[in-house]
Amino acid sequence: MSLQDFLSTLDALEGEASAAFETSSDADSLEVARVRYLGQKSGAIRDVQKQMGSIDKSDRKAAGLRLNQFKSNVQTAFDTAKERLSSGSTAGVDPTFDPSLPGNRPTIGHIHPVTQTITHLMEIMGRMGFEAAEGPEVEDPWHNFVALNIPEDHPARDPLDNFYLATAKSSGGNRNTEGSQLLRSQTSTVQIRVMENQKPPVRVISLGRVYRPDDPDATHFPMFHQMEGLLVDKHVTMANLKTVIRVFATNYLGDDVEIRFRPSFFPFTEPSVEVDFFWNGSWVEFGGAGMIDPAVFEAVGYDPEQYSGFAFGLGVERLCMRRHGITDIRDLYSGDLRFLQQF
Ligand code: DAH
Repeated sequence: MSLQDFLSTLDALEGEASAAFETSSDADSLEVARVRYLGQKSGAIRDVQKQMGSIDKSDRKAAGLRLNQFKSNVQTAFDTAKERLSSGSTAGVDPTFDPSLPGNRPTIGHIHPVTQTITHLMEIMGRMGFEAAEGPEVEDPWHNFVALNIPEDHPARDPLDNFYLATAKSSGGNRNTEGSQLLRSQTSTVQIRVMENQKPPVRVISLGRVYRPDDPDATHFPMFHQMEGLLVDKHVTMANLKTVIRVFATNYLGDDVEIRFRPSFFPFTEPSVEVDFFWNGSWVEFGGAGMIDPAVFEAVGYDPEQYSGFAFGLGVERLCMRRHGITDIRDLYSGDLRFLQQF
C-alpha cells in the first residue's frame, strides 16, 4: 500500500470514528461505536495498523507518526463523547424529585392596612390642596400643650395620661413635668410647628403616630394614628371647615355618608365641634375640629385680627376599621398574618 493511500484511509477513518462517537446518544450506542473503531480484537484501528507492514520502508516513519496521531485523536473523540453522556445522565438525581410538581410559592409582603389608609387619606386631602407636614414623635410641652393653649393645670397634662420621658428632671421624683419631653399625645403639635415656620396662607395635613397610656381594649391602644388638618387664610369660616370635612367623608366613605357637628370644647379651637359620620347604619364619632383659637395664633406670631383658620383631628384607625369592618383595634397591631393578609 502506498503512503498516500494509507494516509487517506486514516483521514477517512478518523472522520468516521469521530462522527460515530459524537452522534452516539446513549451509553449503548457509544459502546457499539467503541468496539467498531477501538476494539482490540476486530476494531478498525487494529485493521489499519496491520497494513503498516505493506508500506515502503522509507515511508514507514511518516506513516507511523500519522498513525499515532490518528489513534490519539480517535481516543480523544471517544473520551469526549463518554464525558458528554455521563454528565447529562440521571445518575445521582434524587428519585423522589418530581420536576412537574408546583414549587413553594414565595411569601410576598404587603402594605399594612393602617398605612394603606394613610396613603388613601393623603391622596384625598392632596386633591383639595392640602400638603403633608411632619413633626417629631418626641415632643416638648410647648408644642404638645402650651402653644395649643393647654395651660399647666389642665388635666390633659396629667402624667398619668401622657408618656413623659424619664429625663433628669422627671426621674428625680419631681412631679412638675414642665420642661419634660413626652411622646406626643396628639398631632395638633404639627399645627404649631408648621405655623412657626411658615406665614399664611397655610393648608396642611399631618398623619402620624400619637401615644397615650390607655389599657388596650377593642377601641383603645397606647399608640394610634391621627390625621390633623390645618387651614389658615384671610376670611376662613366654619362653612369652609364643614365643606372640607364633607368632601373628605364622601370621598373616603362614599356618597351616602352624612356628617354631623356637635358643640364641644378644645383649648386650641373656638368654637369647637365633635365630628360624627353616619355611615352603614350608625353614627360614629370621628374626631374634633373647630376654628383656631386666637391664643394659638398669638403663640405662633400670627395676627388673629388678620387671619382665621380651622383645624381638625381624626383617628386614622377608626376610619380604617369602619371601612374594613374591623371590630378590635388590637387586631391591627397583633402582627398576626392571618388577620393582616385579608387587607
Ligand atoms: N387633638 C385632638 C385630640 O387628640 C383632636 C382635635 C380636636 C384636633 C380639634 C384638632 C381640633 O385640630 O381642631 O383629641
